[in-house]
Amino acid sequence: MVNTIIEPFKIKSVEPINFTTREYRERALREAFYNLFLLRADDVLIDLLTDSGTAAMSSKQWAAIMDGDESYAGSRSFFRFEEVIKDLTGFRHVIPTHQGRAAEKILFTVVGGPGRVIPNNTHFDTTRANVEFSGAQAVDLPVPVALETSRRADFKGNMDLGELETLITKTGRGNIPLCFLTVTNNSVGGQPVSMKNIRETKALLDKYGIPLFIDACRFAENAFFIKLREPGYKDRSIRDIAREMFSYADGCTMSAKKDALVNIGGFLALNDSSLAEKARSLLIMTEGFPTYGGLAGRDLDAIAQGLSEVLDEDYLKYRIRSVEYFGDKLEQAGVPVLVPTGGHAVFLDAGRFLPEVPPELFPGQSLSVQLYLEGGIRSVEIGSVMFGKQVDGRFVGAKLELVRLAIPRRVYTQSHIDYSAEVVIEVFRKRNSIPGYRITYEPPYLRHFTAHFEPVPIGSRR
Ligand code: F0G
Repeated sequence: MVNTIIEPFKIKSVEPINFTTREYRERALREAFYNLFLLRADDVLIDLLTDSGTAAMSSKQWAAIMDGDESYAGSRSFFRFEEVIKDLTGFRHVIPTHQGRAAEKILFTVVGGPGRVIPNNTHFDTTRANVEFSGAQAVDLPVPVALETSRRADFKGNMDLGELETLITKTGRGNIPLCFLTVTNNSVGGQPVSMKNIRETKALLDKYGIPLFIDACRFAENAFFIKLREPGYKDRSIRDIAREMFSYADGCTMSAKKDALVNIGGFLALNDSSLAEKARSLLIMTEGFPTYGGLAGRDLDAIAQGLSEVLDEDYLKYRIRSVEYFGDKLEQAGVPVLVPTGGHAVFLDAGRFLPEVPPELFPGQSLSVQLYLEGGIRSVEIGSVMFGKQVDGRFVGAKLELVRLAIPRRVYTQSHIDYSAEVVIEVFRKRNSIPGYRITYEPPYLRHFTAHFEPVPIGSRR
């Protein structure tokens, strides 16, 4: 029997990647202050920093780009874009933005503000920053199993409904303008949210008259997990499952840089006409006219095409399987990975990988720097660099110390994944000689993007 799941495409255009020596990478790291965001991408061999904006577009998307209409107002590209999104989500108003965070900024400028509280299964970092910048409070309510990296469960991305109800009663319905569900739940490992959880979140919010919004970046990956794992969905199409997911919501923000398979773009879609009007007024000030919103007409066409390609089950099967394949290889070698693997990335548990590096010396940062040094792989720390803070002069670490190896869509082949797994396993073998890191410079917001670090040797070793 033939079992191998292959890449459901052939390659028409290639882009070389650069091989470097260890000495070269040591210098590059010093010059980047040990912050992988500050490296030149040309110095990276396999770039697993993010799955955002890094997809390879299809020949049909490139063809759609040539057909883009660059009219300032009423562009044909906008109407295609709007039609595809309305058909998929059912929302009445579709507002294009240059990426996901621009949709967040507009939405929270309208509904946020001091005294307001926004619950979410887990806010992504830009979502949290936009909520907090408006003066509102961002509250994460993941189910407890989300924090147990070695425990398998089907829907670790779910919202904790008990905690949500407690928050609503404590805060008062009037202070919660809307509630978010992030699908898949990026910050806890790209874990899916079940249809049952979406439905029950909606039912609970309905009791209090609070609207539900979906952070839809990875909606198709979420829909595929529902098809695989949730009773009653195995014979339903991905489009149908996605439509049901959106049917419980009153609106969504979307970074098209993920599941719309494009390099830039996003949107805000919603039913409430008065909210949409306020959002469009802000859009004109900061993004652009409502029929292009910070994008070129051609980008809108590429998104419209990408949103139909992403629903293809052969694509999703390959996508989810290639991430799982990577995770399985690491798990078999004893590397502590978050299980089960999520939709877009393999997450290493740096806390368990480097138990001798204390949280205040950033084990995730240590591990991600080491993966670059060993094999030219770029990953991202999702731990105390990103979420840790000083409270009254005291260090408060993140709940988990993770390193994310995000897989760009349709970009790397199985041998790139095999190579990456070998590099991680090699670093795991040498884990007792890895230093911790100290921050030498940090900006006031989103410090992980630009902070500077220096290595701190860890004393006695096994
Ligand atoms: N929401 C989630 C769940 C995300 O993962 C991201 C981006 C955004 C919103 C913001 O979208 O980048 O288009 O402004 N995540 C990327 C990542 C950056 O690497 O996970 P954006």
